[in-house]
Amino acid sequence: MNPEPHAVALGEYHAAAQAQPNIALVKYWGKRDAELNLPVVGSISITLDSLWTRTEVRFVPGAVQDRVSLNGRSDESVTKRVVACLDLLRQRAHIDWGAVVDSRNNFPTAAGLASSASGFAALVYAGGRALGLELSEAELSILARRCSGSAARSVLGGYVEWTRGQLADGSDSAAHPMLAADAWPLRVAVAITSTAAKQVGSSEGMRRTAQTSPFQAAWIATQETDLAAARSAILTCDFDALALVSEHSCLKMHALAMAAQPGLLYWNGATVECMHRVRTLRQQGLPVFFTVDAGPQLKAVCAPSAIEKVKAALREVPGVLDVLDSGLGAGAHAIALGALEA
Ligand code: PMV
Repeated sequence: MNPEPHAVALGEYHAAAQAQPNIALVKYWGKRDAELNLPVVGSISITLDSLWTRTEVRFVPGAVQDRVSLNGRSDESVTKRVVACLDLLRQRAHIDWGAVVDSRNNFPTAAGLASSASGFAALVYAGGRALGLELSEAELSILARRCSGSAARSVLGGYVEWTRGQLADGSDSAAHPMLAADAWPLRVAVAITSTAAKQVGSSEGMRRTAQTSPFQAAWIATQETDLAAARSAILTCDFDALALVSEHSCLKMHALAMAAQPGLLYWNGATVECMHRVRTLRQQGLPVFFTVDAGPQLKAVCAPSAIEKVKAALREVPGVLDVLDSGLGAGAHAIALGALEA
């Protein structure tokens, strides 16, 4: 055992949780309220299983400061966001104690792999348990959303829809389960084409897009059609229909962002080569489609029977550094204290 320097009696304002990144098939891009992270559109995602964030939170009665470490290091911008999230939990519990937070990712942080989604879903889950708050899935999703929009979806597993909601306070903008992971166990190959942190974060990218992209109104106006198509594809497990709407939503989101001023270009050459490779595989009869978020990694979603061929094909693309592989998994859940390492 490797005792943590801050280890205390089990269960004393102390809990640990795991959450996994999610990948949007119908994308979220744009906020109707930046403070509350309320989206201009609903979105649909799948939660992964083999990539994870594990987080331990311990509130210390009487402590006045938070201590935060991510992958064994402390970083000012990460700490700021974590403290803001802890503040929401403290408000809820009517306490003002500082906390010690230790979080680990088993995949590259901040490069378009949704580390903030798994990170904040794990943090609200562990923090809520440490304080003995009995939060429903919807309440956890709303708290996670306030810390990072897409984290709302990582609270849940399998196929998930995050509803836009209409209310100004955001109480109707939470994620809901659509279909369990094992009801349609698709696989995901993630082609890593760069490990550098992205230059323009999603909040800044969304703000710039809303202010300057001529396609913003069309983006909002057409989202409901895509959501309806994806819902129906998921509920009937129709791979071809899901492929069509997912690639469409991905390319539409990037076209919207590229048309901002200055334009947002999250792809590199290898990302584009991977898109072509995936389409070629599909033309050859393999059930696979791609999606890309605010970063250069390409995610290829496929039927389980296709995963080895998809991984091998992506590995051959020049500029691909590594290919990760995941199934679909559960939502945020408790883990044993001291179980942060793989
Ligand atoms: O919630 P954020 O700030 O991680 O933004 C997520 C934006 C995309 O990943 C590009 C799309 C999505 O729906 O996850």
